This record gives sequence, C-alpha cells and structure tokens, in this order.
Amino acid sequence: MTPSDTLRALFAEQPFLLAPMAGVTDAPYRLMCRAHGARLAYSEMVSVAGLAYASEKTWDLVLPDPREPQICVQLFGSKPEQFAQAVDAVQERVGEKLTLIDINMACPARKVVSKGEGCALMRAPETAEQIVRAAAGRARVPVTVKMRVGYASADRNAPEFARRMEAAGAAAVAVHGRTAGQMYLGQADWSIIDEVAAQVAVPVIGSGDVYTAQDAVDMLTGTAASAVFCARGTYGNPWIFEDAQALLAGDVAPAHDFRDKLGAFRRHLELLEEAGAHMVRARTFAAWYLKGVPQAASWRRRAVSCVSVADWRALVDDLQAASSHWTVENGKVVAQDA
Ligand SMILES: Cc1cc2nc3c(=O)[nH]c(=O)nc-3n(C[C@H](O)[C@H](O)[C@H](O)COP(=O)(O)O)c2cc1C
Repeated sequence: MTPSDTLRALFAEQPFLLAPMAGVTDAPYRLMCRAHGARLAYSEMVSVAGLAYASEKTWDLVLPDPREPQICVQLFGSKPEQFAQAVDAVQERVGEKLTLIDINMACPARKVVSKGEGCALMRAPETAEQIVRAAAGRARVPVTVKMRVGYASADRNAPEFARRMEAAGAAAVAVHGRTAGQMYLGQADWSIIDEVAAQVAVPVIGSGDVYTAQDAVDMLTGTAASAVFCARGTYGNPWIFEDAQALLAGDVAPAHDFRDKLGAFRRHLELLEEAGAHMVRARTFAAWYLKGVPQAASWRRRAVSCVSVADWRALVDDLQAASSHWTVENGKVVAQDA
C-alpha cells in the first residue's frame, strides 16, 4: 500500500476529521470530539523551529493523551532542514500513534506569513517542494499538505500547487476554500476542491464553512473530497462527527438541546482539569456551550471571570439549577418561570 492508499482507506472508514485549530484542538478538545465519533484528529499547529529546542510544554501540543488512539500532527515553518529534524523528533516521541504529519501552508496570520511560513509558502512553491521532500524523505507515516485557494484571489493556484506538492511526495492534500486575504471571513468556495482533485491522484480533504453535520455530508457527497475537515462546526457541538456519520448512513441525527450542551460542557471541564491545564483556558469554549441558553450574555459574562475549577463547577451547577425553571420545546427554551 502506498501512503496515499493508506489514507484513502482510513478516510473511507471515517471521512469526518477534527481539523487542526491553534488554541483549540488540545488533548481535552480532541477527547471530547473522539467521545462523539471523531476518529482522526489533528494537533494544533506546531513550529518546527520551536521543536528543535522544545520544552515539555511545546511537546504537550504534539503528544496524544494516553486515552487517544492516534494523532495527526501538524507542523509549520519555512526551513526544509528543520522539517526533516522535526519529523524525526515527532516520530520518535509519538511512536505508533502517529497517523500522519501535515504541513501547514494555509495559515494566514501575519506573524506566520511574514516569516515565509503558512500560506506564504503558496507563493514560494520551490521552497514548499523542498519542505515536502525533506519531510517525506524522513517520514515513516504519510506526509500531507494543507493549503488555501491561493494567497490572494488573483493567485488561485491551489490546483497547480497541489500537483507540485503531490509530485514532491505529499500523500494527500487539504484545501480550505478561502484565500489568505480572506482569513476566516466570507463564504468558502467549495469548487476549488474539485479543481484540486482534478489535478492530483492523491486524496483531497475539503475544508471551509462546515458548520453542521449536514454541511459535512454535503461537502463529502457534493464535491470530490475524500474527507472533510470539521473546524468551527465543532464549537459547542462535539456531536458533529457521529451526526454526520448517521446522516451519511441515511439515518436521522438527533437534536442536541441545552441539557446535552451542559453535560458536554461539564465533561469538557473535567477533561481540562484531568489534563492539568490552566482552567482559564475553558473560557475559549465556555461561550460555545452557552450559546442558546436563556440570558446567555450574562452567563458568558460570568464565565469570563471564572479562574479555578471551583468557579467553573459553581457556574455549571447554577446553570443546571436555573434550567429546572426552563420550558423547552423542540430543543429550544420557550419560557422560564421566576
Ligand atoms: C481558531 C482557529 C484556529 C485554526 N488553526 C489552524 C491551524 O493551526 N492549522 C490549520 O491548518 N488550520 C487552522 N485553522 C483553519 C481550520 O482548520 C479550517 O480550515 C478553517 O477554519 C475553515 O473551516 P470552517 O470554515 O469550517 O471553520 C484554524 C481555524 C480557526 C477558526
């Protein structure tokens, strides 16, 4: 089996992947999504320059929790030799659980592209090829590349760029249907997925505007994508993976009301605590789980002052108590008594 055959087989089994998201997809977040059907999950992006003299804190971004069966590690940088070293180090530290190494050529952040990293590589295809060759030459697992439509809309070079990355050794490519200039705004252009797939033989992962399980299924069935990245659609909605699988199988996906969300929020807090993380980090996802609860704004205000495990526990307990006064119809709170 070639590396791309290996990935094609994995994607056929589970086409809905937890996308890499810096500041979001840490081990507790991945465990939360895995508990609801995600089987392939990505790390946050990790700098190859940082890994050369990495602290254990940096390695925390890379290493899976003992309860995780696998991990896809995403690296970013601009120097081929640093990628080669980082691939060696990641393989050694992660071992058997490493499914693939992805190279980030999609990040639009100024501090990243200004150093020639992330999406800036789409304007430096020779360097991008050297990076893929250096990484694939050392890797025992498939090496993949995540890109955007192009750096700017006038570029729109993802199809040609993907072809070059495949020739350099990429076993799959992922394309986010926005340019770097668009950041995360505007509508994602899914037609780029088909344009890329027409140029390469390796599997293509689609990304962009997958907010619901139905969106994930629509992208999978309506484009040439072999797999779909679930990114912002996982916010407060770890069920997106099992729901998309259910829809794909022709079943009905259940509705998830605020009680489910509260239960998930509580579990996510526990996972964060178990990981020994600073509990302030929970502020990132608290607002996502609180969406749709009555007086969400005031609960969110309270969430931004939570610091300790006890603060969070009190917030969730109070929410639970308040919810006994809510009347729910079709998953939505329609009234609350005093
Ligand atoms: C907060 C945040 C962090 C992200 N971090 C990364 C990252 O580290 N690496 C990467 O390749 N993409 C990253 N992305 C992009 C997502 O993986 C995905 O391609 C993008 O959000 C488009 O999908 P969506 O519109 O369905 O959210 C990030 C997106 C968000 C919202």
